[in-house]
Amino acid sequence: MFKKMSTIAQQVRQVTERVSVASKKRAENLKFKDPRIVAVSKTKSIDMIIEAYDAGQRHFGENYVNELVEKATDIELQDHCDEIKWHFIGHLQSNKASKVLGLPNLYAVETVDSDKIAKSLNNAWERLKKAEPLNVMIQVNTSGESNKSGIALGKTIELTSFIKDNCPHLKMLGIMTIVAYNYDPNSGPNPDFLSLVKEREAICEAFNIPLKDIELSMGMSSDFEQAIEMGSTNVRVGSTIFGTRDTSLKKGTFETGHSVELEKTVKENKSASTSCSQQKLTNSPEETLKNLSIE
Ligand SMILES: Cc1ncc(COP(=O)(O)O)c(C=O)c1O
Repeated sequence: MFKKMSTIAQQVRQVTERVSVASKKRAENLKFKDPRIVAVSKTKSIDMIIEAYDAGQRHFGENYVNELVEKATDIELQDHCDEIKWHFIGHLQSNKASKVLGLPNLYAVETVDSDKIAKSLNNAWERLKKAEPLNVMIQVNTSGESNKSGIALGKTIELTSFIKDNCPHLKMLGIMTIVAYNYDPNSGPNPDFLSLVKEREAICEAFNIPLKDIELSMGMSSDFEQAIEMGSTNVRVGSTIFGTRDTSLKKGTFETGHSVELEKTVKENKSASTSCSQQKLTNSPEETLKNLSIE
């Protein structure tokens, strides 16, 4: 019998399509990898994650340790979603490192911002005796806002060097940023994206490695297309896939049950898609990147 596609499934397909369109607009030297979509499922229920998984979504991101532990160890989710890949994208304290690292299907920790946390992750991963190193990204506080986690701009070379020299159980996958709140993507290339792009250039020069060896995790619901055009290889998309988050929920807790109707989000997604295709960057990402002399 014909089964109506869930709204979450529709959103997963739409976002995937929008990512594919944006990827084609990248400069040739940035086309080495299809961007990965990380569906940010913070506050969303296990059923909603399963709906997205059934639509083909594999990478999911969570901000809170307890919430991730509950979801990743849920029996129904484990049975149903054996190819799920979890990204930890919240602030991590070193005393919680083992809790996250012991979880099944952990793909990456995107928020390393100190030697201390890198070393804790390295040691915890070593104790788990995994065959492959743990993927990590360095979080960079590109906007310099004091309420944001992340290492200061210019400091990533030092931390990368620390990881390379002292953390054999970690694989330095890339660098990530959370941009300043409320930047209007219609006003041109986001300065936080530009800073992260430059930071990658500096790392690649310092270690004499190609751009493709350092990923960029940047772009969320409101700006993932622009981020991709500027070279993002990892976009973290929450509300456009799952609908707005219930802000009355206590930190680290989540909804139960299936998706409520997300018609509002579907409409918003459609209009965002139109406005993004109409959107004019002051410089095109290609020009901007050329100005930064990135090869
Ligand atoms: C680090 C991080 N990335 C991405 C997202 C997703 O944001 P959005 O719902 O705007 O896509 C969130 C949401 O809380 C987040 O904390």
